[in-house]
Amino acid sequence: MSLKKLLKKSTPSSSISKLSTINTKILIHMNDVWASYDGKNYSLKEITLSIERGTNYAIVGQSGSGKSTLLKLINGMMNPSKGQIKVDYQTPNMNKKQFRREMSKIGYIPQSLGLVKNISVLENVLIGALPRIGTLNSLLKNFPEHEIEEAKKIIKLVGLNGKENRKTYMLSGGEKRRVAIARALMQKPILLLADEIVSELDQVTAREIMDLVADAQKRLNLTAVMVHHDMQLALEYANRVAVIKEGQKILEIGIDGDKIIDFQSGNMPQQEIMELYNNES
Ligand SMILES: Nc1ncnc2c1ncn2[C@@H]1O[C@H](COP(=O)(O)OP(=O)(O)O)[C@@H](O)[C@H]1O
Ligand SMILES: [Mg+2]
Repeated sequence: MSLKKLLKKSTPSSSISKLSTINTKILIHMNDVWASYDGKNYSLKEITLSIERGTNYAIVGQSGSGKSTLLKLINGMMNPSKGQIKVDYQTPNMNKKQFRREMSKIGYIPQSLGLVKNISVLENVLIGALPRIGTLNSLLKNFPEHEIEEAKKIIKLVGLNGKENRKTYMLSGGEKRRVAIARALMQKPILLLADEIVSELDQVTAREIMDLVADAQKRLNLTAVMVHHDMQLALEYANRVAVIKEGQKILEIGIDGDKIIDFQSGNMPQQEIMELYNNES
């Protein structure tokens, strides 16, 4: 469905929710965040957003618009040049011991998936338990029995029952995504970050993976932040969609079923936004 059609069907509410950091429902808060890789050019500018716990949040934008950078900021892999970020009351920063300890709360799936090709599905999923069992034990393959049981349960949950011992490089694209999701779930996360994990898949497989994430997200009451370059999937699955263009948030919509319940446009005229996103049918 095009954004234009969706907007026609909706009854936009005039009350734009004012969210604040003291609201305990908020898991992620960004306030006027700017980010740069070289200190000169800004890949993200003036990003302000709040993501409530339990939300399925989508970030949509063209290639190079800053989507991956946004996830890296939430994950603490990159620090903002300016502005504040809070994730579950913490300032993300990989260099800080405290945040690294907290990191297992965040299941991050990079666009490349980051799987180890030459090891089995089970071993890849067990990597998600590393923060709990320690690197040395894992090198010695000393995984506690209950963690192995847990990993097998999750492998079943993502639909890979019977493929525990298969080497990861032998799997299809869809199956690899399932392993990456299972590894993230093994972390027992409260937040799932996924960077364009369905972009390279055919429509049917992409929907299977989206269904899987949506199901896990609801079942485990996770907050999910998923990056897409396809508006269609975002509108279908997310509760909120933020559109990023050239490093700026130009639009954010809240969706309930097929109704738009909140519409906030950034610094781009609404007409221009429509022209950008009404060409998919
Ligand atoms: N490691 C990097 N070093 C320098 N510039 C980068 C790096 N990663 C991304 N960029 C730049 O930041 C901008 C946003 O990139 P990115 O967040 O990867 O966009 P997207 O994920 O939407 O494709 C782009 O202009 C890109 O060239
Ligand atoms: Mg990217």
